[in-house]
Amino acid sequence: MEKVVVSIGGSILVPGNNDSEFILKLSEMLRSICDKVQIAVVCGGGKTARYYAETGRALGGNTYELDILGIGATRLNAQLLSLAMGDMPDKVPETTKELAESSAPGKVVIMGGTVPGHTTDAVATMVAKDMGADRIVNATSVDAVYTDDPRTNKDAERISRMTIRELKDIVYSEHGASKSSVFDPLGVKIAMEEKIDILVVDGRDVDELRNAILGNEINGTFIDSH
Ligand code: UTP
Repeated sequence: MEKVVVSIGGSILVPGNNDSEFILKLSEMLRSICDKVQIAVVCGGGKTARYYAETGRALGGNTYELDILGIGATRLNAQLLSLAMGDMPDKVPETTKELAESSAPGKVVIMGGTVPGHTTDAVATMVAKDMGADRIVNATSVDAVYTDDPRTNKDAERISRMTIRELKDIVYSEHGASKSSVFDPLGVKIAMEEKIDILVVDGRDVDELRNAILGNEINGTFIDSH
């Protein structure tokens, strides 16, 4: 059975717009396919993480402390999705090994961040490595990778397929790559070494997300690591 890790941005999970309705739809979709592919989900922090980081920064918090606040937000979101899946733990798994070990067919395992210094995209690639996953699905707020930022350049073109080397060139050429980056550079490095494909899809589109997880045709970008 194929194994898939889904990195779901906090901006997808809790944008503050009918969140319970979306999370319910998402959880029903995951439940409906988890006996076809083995699924692990890593949740991002979104607005909640940004709120704590900004407030913590104003209070004099250092990078390490702000990361700890961010990780707290990702774990809160992981608990929210777990609640929708009908199995909310008091504490979500805190290491990628723990999550990979608890993964099994017919079961969706969920976590947030791990330790300071990276984002949940990187965590997703670490889980993928530990699980021996076939692909990572990045459920994000952009619907694909573009040749330029589509918000500022109307001529930016959607890329349907690219190599992981090309993605590496993009993420490493971005100055101070962080929030706007397509994928965490550390995650790209691990996916490249481990030869794990990355699919970038519109996470709010549950059908598109389902297709990406199942390995069907997608509208987003397929990043080939082979
Ligand atoms: P996210 O993964 O949500 O980061 O973690 P992000 O860049 O905001 O991603 P999107 O926009 O939701 O996709 C939120 C913050 O939590 C800390 C980092 O500070 C990160 O920016 N974090 C998260 C860690 O330090 N370690 C982790 O393992 C995860």
